[in-house]
Amino acid sequence: MPHYLSSQGLQFLKETALSRTQWRPREVITPAPMFKEYAEAPKIALPRPTFPAVDLFEALIRRRSVRNYRKEPLNIEDLALLLFATQGVTARAGGYLLRTAPSAGALYPIETYLCVHQVDGLPCGLYHFAVGRFSLEELRLGPLASELTAACLGQSMCAKAAVVFIWTAIPRRTMSKYGSRGMRYVFMDVAHICQNLLLAATALGLGACPIGAFFDDELAAFLEVDGQEECPLYLATVGWPA
Ligand SMILES: Cc1cc2nc3c(=O)[nH]c(=O)nc-3n(C[C@H](O)[C@H](O)[C@H](O)COP(=O)(O)O)c2cc1C
Repeated sequence: MPHYLSSQGLQFLKETALSRTQWRPREVITPAPMFKEYAEAPKIALPRPTFPAVDLFEALIRRRSVRNYRKEPLNIEDLALLLFATQGVTARAGGYLLRTAPSAGALYPIETYLCVHQVDGLPCGLYHFAVGRFSLEELRLGPLASELTAACLGQSMCAKAAVVFIWTAIPRRTMSKYGSRGMRYVFMDVAHICQNLLLAATALGLGACPIGAFFDDELAAFLEVDGQEECPLYLATVGWPA
């Protein structure tokens, strides 16, 4: 049989297809908490963003994957703008925090981590973005560039960037409503978030590049997540273009 037709990828699409006779979730999956919090972690409040006047279509035309960066730090105001672009809360509805990027069922399965190499006023290290508080939770300090680069198949842009965004998913949040089809939505969710980042970075004159190639187990270990209840999905490097 041809490889595509027998591939696991196509099998996944078939097994999660909706049809007129089969459109309800097939599995019962218990939900996960809507928010992840590192209660013990030191908190760093982010500055309230001041939005620059930029043209969306100019950013769309100018966006290009940039993999070489100058050794120049990002300022915390620009970092705050980028985080707002990815997951900023723009409305509250009941218990839901509606955000800049859409999410299937408003279930928001994506968590954001930052590997900071060069940001003014922020020591090098790993941070988690607390969406509701618009703050960072400090997880681990120290130079992490080589460990992250190794986990991303040695892609050197991971070390050259001022900051690397790392997105994980907690699939239960979405799959508790949609079953296995929810996994498709999880991938779509993270893509919306990443595109917001790429456009915002372009608008600020920064360069960015998405990364889908990484060793899953190594990136999970880097983030200290189990790779099952919380799975690394995607990354993006950001810095001043060289
Ligand atoms: C899902 C996805 C994964 C990607 N993974 C990588 C990657 O691991 N390394 C890399 O250098 N570029 C990666 N890219 C960037 C693409 O190579 C790039 O978007 C493509 O060459 C088109 O160029 P442009 O972004 O400048 O328009 C990825 C892009 C997408 C959408």
